[in-house]
Amino acid sequence: MNEINSKLIDTCLHTANASEKEAEDGIMHLRKIQDADVAGKRVILRVDFNVAIEEGRVKESFKILAAKESIDYLLNKKCKVALISHLGRPEGKVDPKFSLGQVVSDAEIILGEKITFVPDCVGEKVREALENLGEGVLLLENVRFYAGDEKNDTDFSAQLAENFDFFVNDAFSASHRDHASVAGVARILPSAAGCRLQEEIAEMTIVKEHPIHPAVAIIGGAKIETKLPVIKFFEEKYDYILVGGRIANEAIDQKIKFSEKVILPFDFIDDRLDIGPKTLDKFKEIIAAAKTIVWNGPTGKFEEEKYAVSSNEILKAVLVSGAFVLIGGGETLEILERNDAMEKVDFVSTGGGAMLDYLGGEVMPGIAALEE
Ligand code: 3PG
Repeated sequence: MNEINSKLIDTCLHTANASEKEAEDGIMHLRKIQDADVAGKRVILRVDFNVAIEEGRVKESFKILAAKESIDYLLNKKCKVALISHLGRPEGKVDPKFSLGQVVSDAEIILGEKITFVPDCVGEKVREALENLGEGVLLLENVRFYAGDEKNDTDFSAQLAENFDFFVNDAFSASHRDHASVAGVARILPSAAGCRLQEEIAEMTIVKEHPIHPAVAIIGGAKIETKLPVIKFFEEKYDYILVGGRIANEAIDQKIKFSEKVILPFDFIDDRLDIGPKTLDKFKEIIAAAKTIVWNGPTGKFEEEKYAVSSNEILKAVLVSGAFVLIGGGETLEILERNDAMEKVDFVSTGGGAMLDYLGGEVMPGIAALEE
């Protein structure tokens, strides 16, 4: 490990239960910003500012803050930085509801950086804004206003690239998408993984390849078909998989067969809207003995306080378990936030679908494009 890499590992990675070596294994094959010649260059930085907005205000700062380290790094290298992101699913059409202009003032506060909004993400407006950029960074308009992004259209990738010298992907949570702004442009410009992306992959590698046993996965939320690959992965590597939420009901209804490591609820509250007290006790007993815990998805209909009991209780048990804890997924993060526990777990992933795909062994186009 060179000196800069080792500093990055020290400052970025919360390697609470693993050696630096294990963390480093996961990012070994990636091109990294700290190894790239970016000084003074025009850099397009893929971030994930796909955040909830209510009455014009950003409701969650976590995903925005996640980009700070790479932004600071590039500004220190005197780069001209343009942030590119999607917001929602505008389906290739301009729609003010999904304009990233809405996040500018809150993002300035969260990042402590002047942000100039550019009402397009390709072409002349971007070129001019880069030329005129003094202090701070640019934030380009929602890349999904162009259909070419989700199609990973080659011409659109070239349009994204044309105003820049270098591409950095720092959006782990979008890296499961084979889109132009995630994967396409990385194959046109010289490119590298940002600090946060490296950190996410390193932490995921630890829980994926080197879990300390007993290792416990807690999987909840909806859509059993999207969660089956990750449950299968955990069946091979982990000691227990605790399943709750809508997916547990779906698995029971569809009579899906699992190994004995998978514990489905055996009692419920009301019309299966939360797991029952006996299941919760069993889950808590397993969690108490765990040394590694990965959690994605609530175990009940947590939006209603009445059915948030198991998710809240599981969080309490997780926090006192002493295990290395990695948590991801938008709804699970909401449970953390409501309980003021964001700072209390070892690693919070920005990824929901991306985390499940990564752990389930799916190809991640945004990461594959950065492999050496
Ligand atoms: C997320 O919020 O999980 C990411 O931003 C990906 O968004 P998407 O599912 O719309 O691609």
